[in-house]
Amino acid sequence: MGIDLGTANTLVYVRDRGIVIDEPSVVAINTRNDQIIAVGIEAQRMVGKSPAHIAVSRPLVDGVISDFEVTERMLRHFIEKVHREGFSIIPRPRIVIGIPLGVTEVERKAVEDASISAGAREVFLIEEPMAAAIGARLPIQDASGNMIVDIGGGTTEIAVISLGGVVTWKSLRMAGDRMDQDIIQYAREHFNILLGERTAETIKKKIASAIDLPEPLESKIRGRDLISGLPKEVSINSNQIREAINRSLRAILEGVKSTIENTPPELVADIYSRGIVLSGGGALLRGLDRLISDETKIPVHISDDPLTAVARGAGIILEDLENLKDVLSPSTKDNALSN
Ligand SMILES: Nc1ncnc2c1ncn2[C@@H]1O[C@H](COP(=O)(O)OP(=O)(O)OP(=O)(O)O)[C@@H](O)[C@H]1O
Ligand SMILES: [Mg+2]
Repeated sequence: MGIDLGTANTLVYVRDRGIVIDEPSVVAINTRNDQIIAVGIEAQRMVGKSPAHIAVSRPLVDGVISDFEVTERMLRHFIEKVHREGFSIIPRPRIVIGIPLGVTEVERKAVEDASISAGAREVFLIEEPMAAAIGARLPIQDASGNMIVDIGGGTTEIAVISLGGVVTWKSLRMAGDRMDQDIIQYAREHFNILLGERTAETIKKKIASAIDLPEPLESKIRGRDLISGLPKEVSINSNQIREAINRSLRAILEGVKSTIENTPPELVADIYSRGIVLSGGGALLRGLDRLISDETKIPVHISDDPLTAVARGAGIILEDLENLKDVLSPSTKDNALSN
C-alpha cells in the first residue's frame, strides 16, 4: 500500500487497484469508553458539532503526528477497511508512506511505529515532495532540475529534485489550514462575526483567489455575531478573501523564491524551461499558479489531480521498489544500525 498520511486527508493506494481510500484525517472518539465512533468523512461531519463526550480530532498537525495513539487507530481503521472491502488479500501489507521534508528522527519514527502497530509488515518512508513529483510523472531520475511545490493542509513543501535526490528544499509549516484561520480572523476583524473552521474552508474553496479578479466572486457567510451573540449573515467577495490570505500567500512565494535562490544555476536553467509543478490541495486555489509565475517569471503547471499526487507517487514506488529504492528516505532502523 502507498499511503499519504496528510494533515487534512489520508489516501491509500493499493497495488493494481489505485486509490481506494481518500478521506479526511479526522477521528471521533467517545471519551466515556474510549471507543472510536467514526473515522474519515463520517468524523469530519461531526467537527464543531459534537457533545462534550465526543472528541473529534485531527491527529496530525503541520504534517506530523501530534497524537500518536489516535493516528495509529486511524491508520489501522483504514488498513482494515481496505481488507474488508476486498481490495487487498495480504493481511500485513508493505507500506510506502510519505513524510514531510526536514522532520525530526522522533517524528519519522512515530510514522514508522504507527504504521507497524496499525498492521504493516514493513514500512518505507518517502519524502512527500519526492512522492508528489513521482506522482506527477516528473523525470526525477534525470540529471535535470525538477521543481515541485506541494501545498497541503498543514505544510508547504518546496523541493528541487535531480538525479533521484532532493537538491534544495524548504518546508513551511503552514498551508491551507492557515488560510482558513486567516479567513476566520478577517471575518472577526472586519465583520465582527465568528466563523467555524469548516465554513472558512468552504468559502475558501468556493471563492478564494490568489490574484485580483476583474469580476470578484461573491458569497454569503454565516457565523455568530460577536456583539449580539446571535447568528449573522454577511456577503464577502474574493478580493476580500485575497486580502485575508495575503500573508500566507506571501509566505509561500517567499519560500519558492528563496529555494530558487539557493539552487545551483544549471538546475535553475532547467526549471526555467520546464516550469514549476504544483501539487496538494492548495494547488487548486484559484490563480495561485498565475501568482507564482508572475512573481518568479517561471511557468507554473498544476499536476493532474493534485490532491492524489503523493499517494499515487507512493504507489508507483511500491510497484517498482527495485528501481526506486534509492529515492526512499532512510528508515530510522538503518540509522540505528549505522550509528
Ligand atoms: N479548490 C481548493 N481551493 C483551495 N484550497 C483547497 C481546494 N481544495 C482543497 N484545498 C485545500 O487543500 C488542503 C488539503 O490538501 P491536501 O489533501 O493535499 O493536504 P494534506 O496532504 O492532507 O496535508 P499536508 O500535506 O500538509 O499534511 C486543505 O487546506 C484544503 O482546504
Ligand atoms: Mg500532503
